[in-house]
Amino acid sequence: MTDFDTLDALLSARFSCRAFRGDPVPRADIERIIATAQKVPSWCNAQPWQVIVTAGAETDRFRDALYTAASTTPPAPDMPWPEGYPGIYGDRRRTCGFQLYDAVGIEKGDLASSAQQMMENYRLFGAPHVAIITSPKVLGPYGAMDTGGFVTAFCLAAQALGVATIPQAAIAAQAPFVREHFNIAEDRHILCAISLGYPDTDHPANSFRTDRAQVADVMEWKE
Ligand SMILES: Cc1cc2nc3c(=O)[nH]c(=O)nc-3n(C[C@H](O)[C@H](O)[C@H](O)COP(=O)(O)O)c2cc1C
Repeated sequence: MTDFDTLDALLSARFSCRAFRGDPVPRADIERIIATAQKVPSWCNAQPWQVIVTAGAETDRFRDALYTAASTTPPAPDMPWPEGYPGIYGDRRRTCGFQLYDAVGIEKGDLASSAQQMMENYRLFGAPHVAIITSPKVLGPYGAMDTGGFVTAFCLAAQALGVATIPQAAIAAQAPFVREHFNIAEDRHILCAISLGYPDTDHPANSFRTDRAQVADVMEWKE
């Protein structure tokens, strides 16, 4: 296998896991994941990301309090959410949503069940760990861009150890609660969270895979 094949296989195997087993990942493995993910490039090598990782009772304390917060409090993310998903972006967004609902047996238009499935975000999909990802406000979108690379590398490094992940903007939507719960400084943006653990491979929520645009759809070649 070439390095390219290895990387491609890893990228193909990773998916957003929406049902986890409860058994914990050893702390040493999570530290390895972070050490490897830190090898991504960042502007000026600033490495702006910071990560809070929960385990054991702390995950459950956070999960329970987060669920209550999300049930009672409207979204208030630190970074403004996208203004919209026009055209093809909206199509892709709808497609991956329908894939999930189909997989778990929710009929189109069943808003109550869709909302209930969305709330699974706030149960961390049953994960034994969550990583809260922040970057300094002063670095603005560039800090967020660097941290996005870190998030991707985190998910791939985890996959390489058999650990499943899901990045969650839904948790960043509860930024005021998350900030208070973990005492996160005001000068940091809460960008997203990553729930992680071993995948429940029999769960229907993990039974589908999203697709990707063709290279011709995303690349313009000039010579
Ligand atoms: C920054 C970011 C935030 C995301 N937030 C959520 C989320 O809040 N809830 C969720 O179910 N999926 C979330 N996802 C997962 C995406 O829906 C998923 O990556 C996309 O549909 C592609 O599917 P795949 O990850 O299985 O390849 C997020 C992904 C990223 C990169």
